[in-house]
Amino acid sequence: MKRIYMDNGATSFPKAPNVAEAVYKYMTENGCNVNRSSYENAGEAEDILLDTRYLLCHLFDFDKPSNVVFTSGITESLNCVIKGLLKKGDHCIVSGFEHNAVMRPLNSIGVEWSVAEISKNGHFENIESLFRENTRLVVMTHSSNVFGNVLPLEEVGEICKKKNIPFVIDTAQTAGHINVSFKNLNCDVLCFAGHKGLLAPQGIGGMIMTDEMAKKIPPIIEGGTGSVSHTIETPFFMPDKFEAGTMNIPAIYGLNAALKYIIDTKVENIEKTENILRERFLKGISNIKGLHIVDCENTKHTPVVSLVFDNIDMAEVSYILEKDFLIETRCGLHCAPIAHKTMGTYPQGTVRFSFGYFTTNDEIDAVITALNKIII
Ligand SMILES: Cc1ncc(COP(=O)(O)O)c(C=O)c1O
Repeated sequence: MKRIYMDNGATSFPKAPNVAEAVYKYMTENGCNVNRSSYENAGEAEDILLDTRYLLCHLFDFDKPSNVVFTSGITESLNCVIKGLLKKGDHCIVSGFEHNAVMRPLNSIGVEWSVAEISKNGHFENIESLFRENTRLVVMTHSSNVFGNVLPLEEVGEICKKKNIPFVIDTAQTAGHINVSFKNLNCDVLCFAGHKGLLAPQGIGGMIMTDEMAKKIPPIIEGGTGSVSHTIETPFFMPDKFEAGTMNIPAIYGLNAALKYIIDTKVENIEKTENILRERFLKGISNIKGLHIVDCENTKHTPVVSLVFDNIDMAEVSYILEKDFLIETRCGLHCAPIAHKTMGTYPQGTVRFSFGYFTTNDEIDAVITALNKIII
């Protein structure tokens, strides 16, 4: 029996072709730090770093490579932006689908928040009424990591622009799955993860921001940047302001290879393939009694499906799927308790099946067969 990986929402596997090779090549043939030394190999690593900023601009429809900042991942990016822009007593607006990477920083600062709800027709109809005198930020996930519903953030961005409130987007679950345009989303900061839909290694992510945000947000980490080394002051210019310390260069080589693959393949082709897989799965399980699809209607979807089961615990389903069928899923709350409260699956959670571009029809069919057997 072959392992069937259904946990791409947590991290993608396999990674894009050439990713492992690019990391290996860097580790064995180059290995140099960036922005510090002037020999040729260091220059090559710097070229890859800069090229990766350009590729991210291309992917996210953004114009300024110097405002593309690398971090250890999207959790760090969200912490930097949220803690940089908010203080105790401020008010913030979120969606009902946020990950704890957003909710925990808000909670620890002591910020008040309001949840914008999506109506049955898939829009944030009442969001304008949530803005208060002390609203300082709107932060939203682009798609739920639990239910796969894509949120209509373009309309939120327009309202934020009108009200002059910064809008921050968490693209952990959409980047690489659907087209994500910084411009169309009308956002001020776009945070991304490298290791999910971008098909790159763990340990690399980032944030892309307007000049205004680049000025306004303070760095949370300060130290050596290889620039203006005569002073103990942190550089104010981008991207150095946010990139102190040695970066995860092996992962950047991997991300570079992954982005080239995604751009060559075209995100719309990835989306098309993943939609076909999701439809095949939904059709295949539609007649199985004792399980229910938890879903938001009238939205676009990423390839994530959450199920709940009658008369059997979610953890047990996940356990049996692995033990008897080598199918790897995730059960529980998926670090997003507020999403479960929104959809009525708190506290038991769901069993999540998250596919990727490399998932095959045979794998989907094997999961459908396994679910039929478990329910019987
Ligand atoms: C919507 C969303 N935001 C943020 C994160 C945090 O990602 P990471 O753990 O890679 O920092 C995740 C991870 O599952 C996520 O799904």
